Amino acid sequence: MESLEREFGIPSAVKIIEGIGGLPKVVLTHPSGSSSEVYLHGAHVTSWKNRSGGEIFFVSRESAFATDLPIRGGIPVIFPQFGGGLLPAHGFARISDWRLSRSSAEDGVKRIELRLSESPRTLAMWPHRFELTLGVVLAADSLTVSMQVENTDEQAFEFQSVFHTYFGVADIGKTGIRGLEGITYVDDLKDQAREVETRSTIRFAEETDRVYVAAPDCVELDDEGHSRVIRIEKRNMSDVVVWNPWIAKSQRMPDFGDDEYQRMVCVETGCIESRVKLSPGKEWCGGTIFTDFV
Ligand code: BG6
Repeated sequence: MESLEREFGIPSAVKIIEGIGGLPKVVLTHPSGSSSEVYLHGAHVTSWKNRSGGEIFFVSRESAFATDLPIRGGIPVIFPQFGGGLLPAHGFARISDWRLSRSSAEDGVKRIELRLSESPRTLAMWPHRFELTLGVVLAADSLTVSMQVENTDEQAFEFQSVFHTYFGVADIGKTGIRGLEGITYVDDLKDQAREVETRSTIRFAEETDRVYVAAPDCVELDDEGHSRVIRIEKRNMSDVVVWNPWIAKSQRMPDFGDDEYQRMVCVETGCIESRVKLSPGKEWCGGTIFTDFV
């Protein structure tokens, strides 16, 4: 931890300290009062506070903070697979230990980069050589996360990648998502049925688990209980997932409190329906900008 702090620490901007479970985390602070925290485990953003100190993200009180287990909340980085399949659920990036590769503080923004490449463990699960770079940029009223995937192998590969962002809301009954009207979604709770969203504002009164395919690049989360609107803008990422586990699924998840569905919603951005195909030596880059309008 001390050697990381010596190499990447920047006074009043970037600090590396011990987080929950003894895992290293990077704390970014901005002169406006905003801040963010990123664990090297999973390259996982667990906190983003606005300039008034209000926490935007949700992290479960039951979350594990341990090597090999995902953190329940914040921004899990999903790669190379979304959901279930041959790999661990939602892929291995969120349960891998990343390395901090860069920090900077200039022009009013605080930036870090973390990297992950293949290892004997990932090659046993997914036989491809790659280099992932996760960028986190904190500004006064926004947080930007970006992912770059480089194919360092001799064969092409395909992947899915998602920022599985958990937002904290004051009351799920007073929460709305705007910007998805007219978009086709795949309903995970109706055997992958495809339907078209008819609502200008999506509200929650039951379990919701949908992939909105080829969604618009800008979606808004209206957290009425906090009098807060968060704008979510994706770049080079085609889909948006809206997820709330509601009562029964919350009870089934060991790392999630039974009542916590009332205070969170996931609005995820990524490439799910159309996998990204990457030739040897090529790079793909996608990102999401979160902006807080208090
Ligand atoms: C969402 C999926 O993205 O992630 C849900 O649409 C899933 O089906 C949820 O339950 C949480 O997944 P996990 O693996 O973190 O429990």
